[in-house]
Amino acid sequence: MPAKIIDGKAIAEEMRAEIKAEAQQLNAQHGVTPGLAVVLVGEDPASQVYVRMKGKACAEAEFFSDERKLPADTSESDLLSLIAELNADEKIHGILVQLPLPKHIDSSKVLLAIDPAKDVDGFHPTNVGKMMIGEQTFLPCTPHGVVQMLVRSGVEIPGKHVVIVGRSNIVGRPLMNMLSQKNDHANATVTCVHTRTKDMAGFTRQADIIIAAAGRPNTVTADMVKDGVVVIDVGVNRVEDPTAKRGFRLVGDVDFEAVKAKAAAISPVPGGVGPMTITMLLYNTIAAVKAKLGI
Ligand code: GUN
Repeated sequence: MPAKIIDGKAIAEEMRAEIKAEAQQLNAQHGVTPGLAVVLVGEDPASQVYVRMKGKACAEAEFFSDERKLPADTSESDLLSLIAELNADEKIHGILVQLPLPKHIDSSKVLLAIDPAKDVDGFHPTNVGKMMIGEQTFLPCTPHGVVQMLVRSGVEIPGKHVVIVGRSNIVGRPLMNMLSQKNDHANATVTCVHTRTKDMAGFTRQADIIIAAAGRPNTVTADMVKDGVVVIDVGVNRVEDPTAKRGFRLVGDVDFEAVKAKAAAISPVPGGVGPMTITMLLYNTIAAVKAKLGI
């Protein structure tokens, strides 16, 4: 049977419609417009694209969006003052500081300054700790998006062996935690493989579900997977392509065509995890509003 394509774009659209309906309801019943502040320091082109997409997604979902673009030489204390201002702003329910920050700014200090109740990225150590012990909190957007893709595609997670390729703080590590929790969207047996793993293929071949988040093309090839595997590809890598208009194209971490031939289901790049990250950010902002209203 040909592999089912796990269409992140379609799942994101479905979720964004639900989120927009919730935003409209919060407005009608409580007079509140969900507000998201996005802070960008410097001119990193990829970050500028993300921030533009976030602004557009907010407008479409009928959120209030406050974009703060600061020059690359902004001091750490000026950035901390802005965070304090946003923490105190009643119109703002969620604050996101786009990473990476310029080198002269201590990212940990900045993330720690965000009010945990407005930390819609789920990066504040308080929220990371709550996630770790299974308490309700903001879950980080990309890993939460991965779980939603599996759940909404009808992939059964409990009891399955999930192999995560990569151990980053943004994706691999939170996924290890989320998928091993005691709940219906988890209860998996989780293995994490990484650059220092001996015999990575020996582990990935045992996987019912592989989540590739290594940040390197062709990290997962067809010889490394069993028949019937489910694969979610979190990677976004630019590879040179002289035939492409921009001179490059985007590929994931998985050798898509060859792995697809063995898989039961697989997510593509682009059109897979990418559209889910901003969707989960909107989802967390709604959660922040509800928590503030006590509903
Ligand atoms: N840069 C790349 N991905 C992310 C993300 O999910 N959140 C933030 N704040 N910065 C990022």
